[in-house]
Amino acid sequence: MTSSGWDSFEAELGWIATVFGGSPSVPFVPTRKETLDLVLSAMSLTKGDILYDLGCGDGRVIVEAARRYPIKKAVCIELRKELAEEARTNALKAGVADKVVVINDDFFKVPISDATVVYMYLLTSVNETLKPKLKQELRPGTRVVSLDFQIPGWRPARIIGESAGWQRTVYVYIIGESDKHEL
Ligand SMILES: C[S@@+](CC[C@H](N)C(=O)[O-])C[C@H]1O[C@@H](n2cnc3c(N)ncnc32)[C@H](O)[C@@H]1O
Repeated sequence: MTSSGWDSFEAELGWIATVFGGSPSVPFVPTRKETLDLVLSAMSLTKGDILYDLGCGDGRVIVEAARRYPIKKAVCIELRKELAEEARTNALKAGVADKVVVINDDFFKVPISDATVVYMYLLTSVNETLKPKLKQELRPGTRVVSLDFQIPGWRPARIIGESAGWQRTVYVYIIGESDKHEL
């Protein structure tokens, strides 16, 4: 689907990027339990990986990743205080609080340079705004995994799942490759 196609998909879902403290923001729509396997397999997590979820909601993706894979650290950045608290509680309940770091802040303001994998379930327009940060801070080889919404102008290294439908498609980008030649 084209980027403008996904813009109408955003409108269809009623998702609108708002502005919060000067940064674009999006509503809390969690990755569904049925979609988690697809998302986690797209991340190809291995020992030593450091995973960030930009806008982690209740922390379900981070917590499940820390529970299932031998990753080093999972960082959950969430703007909304009550969701950040829920994420901390969920990490504790799942027994992975030692691996999970929850930061209640705006992801535009938090350094992400130690990430080896970044997960985003945001909006095409917000992905576009995040591009300079991703390019500047992430090291070559870092995987950027986005559910439903593409990073405009970047070439996905892999597209996993079906090509249409809500929470069915995962785009995997590799820093240093996907962002080399803007489309
Ligand atoms: C679509 S939800 C995805 C939640 C989670 N990643 C998941 O997949 O279950 C997007 C989340 O990003 C958070 N968010 C939006 N803008 C943000 C910002 N600038 N900084 C931190 N969190 C933000 C929202 O509060 C919301 O919880």
